[in-house]
Amino acid sequence: MNKIGVFDSGIGGITVLKEIIKLIPNYEYVYYSDSFNNPYGNKTKEELYVIVKNVIDKLIMMDCNIIVIACNTASAICVDDIREEYKDIIIVAVEPAIKMINDYGHTDNVLLLATKGTVESTRFKNLYEKYNNNNTYVYTPLNLASLIEEGNSRKINECLKVELRGFVDKEINVVILGCTHYPLVKDKIKKILGNQIFYDGSIGVAKRVKSFIKEETKFKITFIDSSNSKEKEIRFFDLLSKK
Ligand code: DGL
Repeated sequence: MNKIGVFDSGIGGITVLKEIIKLIPNYEYVYYSDSFNNPYGNKTKEELYVIVKNVIDKLIMMDCNIIVIACNTASAICVDDIREEYKDIIIVAVEPAIKMINDYGHTDNVLLLATKGTVESTRFKNLYEKYNNNNTYVYTPLNLASLIEEGNSRKINECLKVELRGFVDKEINVVILGCTHYPLVKDKIKKILGNQIFYDGSIGVAKRVKSFIKEETKFKITFIDSSNSKEKEIRFFDLLSKK
């Protein structure tokens, strides 16, 4: 058991995986893209727990002893129960990078984008209470994660135009991408809102994973998609090879 397993409701978690690989280039990875159950963002806690448990069991079967929940929604809703259930496995979770607002003393207008599941979770509410700067808008762009998963650029642009129109004149200086799919469309968001500072939780996750690695081995990556989509596999390796 010495592989790192990373999963999300599809390919979004690649934004986290890439940060991990930057810090730990020589290791064996399994990426599980659960596109069959996408989106996670509007599932109930009960539904999501069963889904997440099923993925984790598969990753353990494939010799993963460190498992990264590369999904803000699943982390926010399930991580406490999952850690309770899998005491022998290292479970690393992601969270919206709102602490950065506090750490860097941002007093300007902040826009935090995340799924419904994340925003409604107790974990998120606690995080927000602790670190928001009283100038933070929290917003859930409807269907955005699913459209990114689908990968149709025109539809994503249309969605962003509609969903972000209420913030165009709000002089947003900082955008927190609280869903691991969203960094994949950062440039499109920039085109609409301007050149803000962007934060996401992936660097924090990568540092945390690195802290558990005693010795590196050899790079290898296995990709699994729960819909058995060849197209997804091609997209995954294409995104992985890009800077
Ligand atoms: N990428 C996920 C997240 O970080 C979930 C998106 C979804 O399936 O709704 O929240």
